Amino acid sequence: MDKFVITGGKKLSGEVEVSGAKNAAVAIIPATILADGSCRIENIPNISDVTSVIDILYKLGARVKLINKTTLEIDSSNLYAPVVPNELARKMRASSYFLGALLGKYSHAKVAMPGGCDFGVRPIDQHIKGFEALGVNISLEHGMVEASSVQLKGNHIYLDVVSVGATVNIMLAAVMAQGLTIIENSAKEPHIVDLANFLSTMGADIRGAGTDVIKIHGVERLHGCTYSIIPDQIEAGTFMAAAVATGGEVLIKNVIPKHLEIISAKLEEMGAEIEEYDDSLLVRRTKPLIRANVKTMPHPGFPTDMQPQIAVLMSIAEGTSIITEGVWDNRFRYVDELKRMGASIQVDGKIAVVEGVGRLMAAPVKATDLRAGAALIIGGLVAQGTTEIEDIQHIERGYENVEEKFRSLGADIQRINVPDEISYDKAII
Ligand code: EPZ
Repeated sequence: MDKFVITGGKKLSGEVEVSGAKNAAVAIIPATILADGSCRIENIPNISDVTSVIDILYKLGARVKLINKTTLEIDSSNLYAPVVPNELARKMRASSYFLGALLGKYSHAKVAMPGGCDFGVRPIDQHIKGFEALGVNISLEHGMVEASSVQLKGNHIYLDVVSVGATVNIMLAAVMAQGLTIIENSAKEPHIVDLANFLSTMGADIRGAGTDVIKIHGVERLHGCTYSIIPDQIEAGTFMAAAVATGGEVLIKNVIPKHLEIISAKLEEMGAEIEEYDDSLLVRRTKPLIRANVKTMPHPGFPTDMQPQIAVLMSIAEGTSIITEGVWDNRFRYVDELKRMGASIQVDGKIAVVEGVGRLMAAPVKATDLRAGAALIIGGLVAQGTTEIEDIQHIERGYENVEEKFRSLGADIQRINVPDEISYDKAII
């Protein structure tokens, strides 16, 4: 097991390049199943969630060729069987996207219930509601979701909650269904639009992605294509927060500034200065950090996947800040770890009150999930002393070469390998 060892107190400076978007890649790669022919996908991030999705596709019988570090040629047009077993599916949430893709292509899918970050209950009732509206029969047995239909037919689907996952899955199942599908109250995240653009490049007829009404006219077949994935909004936001936390100056390259508007606005409210260029942002802070309130919401609201990172800034800001988590039931598991570093945070259900303490202190901490891990890296960068972060496998799920990127900005961060503890009986042998 590896851990990160960070000595805090350095201002970040220089340039960093943002990788392709995790939440777009893990939807677009399964979507290659819908194509008759191979797809060349560019700007793929080298992260473990992507490796897991490719692993599933490979085990289903797809041919996957590495063209270069960020480009894959994928031919998923002839799979063995539309079944994703438990041990593969529970590694992450996006395995549920194989349901929509396999249904869309084969009108049949059997996929184990997905895994992913632990934010309390993570139901898929809206996914199932969508599939049933398209004429799919669903059964749930022994942790496996089995879905089949004689012929998927378009329908009008109103989502009870704005769900990224349900919007993605219904799009995947509807692109080759008979007739018109309308998804109302759909998610509008950048990765939803990126998936719609990918499907359209393969020949799908999708309108309104990025708005809360998506219209899909089913087509007979989809063809292969070449497509480049958008930059990662949350990775960019994480580096912006780190630059502001350390009082540094960083040029964040390969971004789509429009995707980062609400993050930029919140950081400026807290005292940052942000200069916007075509595909980069210069982020600096010279003035004291000041408190702010945040309510996380579906896009274009403040992203819940930036909530832990902004909490670190609030912990060292002047004054009291309030965080309202508007998406997940339980997204404050990282707070106890931040408290080990001297943060003053009171949590009550979906509300956290953060009292600025000026400075954090180094401590041994654990990453409880992907974004919590990113927040602890930022905490370590501003803390007095040397912080050790364990369970960094969570961080590797969504951040490519994170320690090298931070080191290139002047951070003192090392990856240390910790040999697995030898159990007594093994020691004997
Ligand atoms: C996606 O998760 C992202 N994951 C999450 O990012 C992100 O936090 C989340 O969207 C919200 O933006 C990926 O894209 C792979 P949802 P997803 O369905 O699709 C409720 C990260 O760090 N809901 O939009 O699982 C649900 O309980 C990860 O990159 C239902 O009630 O999220 C939640 O409260 C962590 N029924 C809300 O909707 C359903 O059928 C939003 O969930 C589905 C969801």
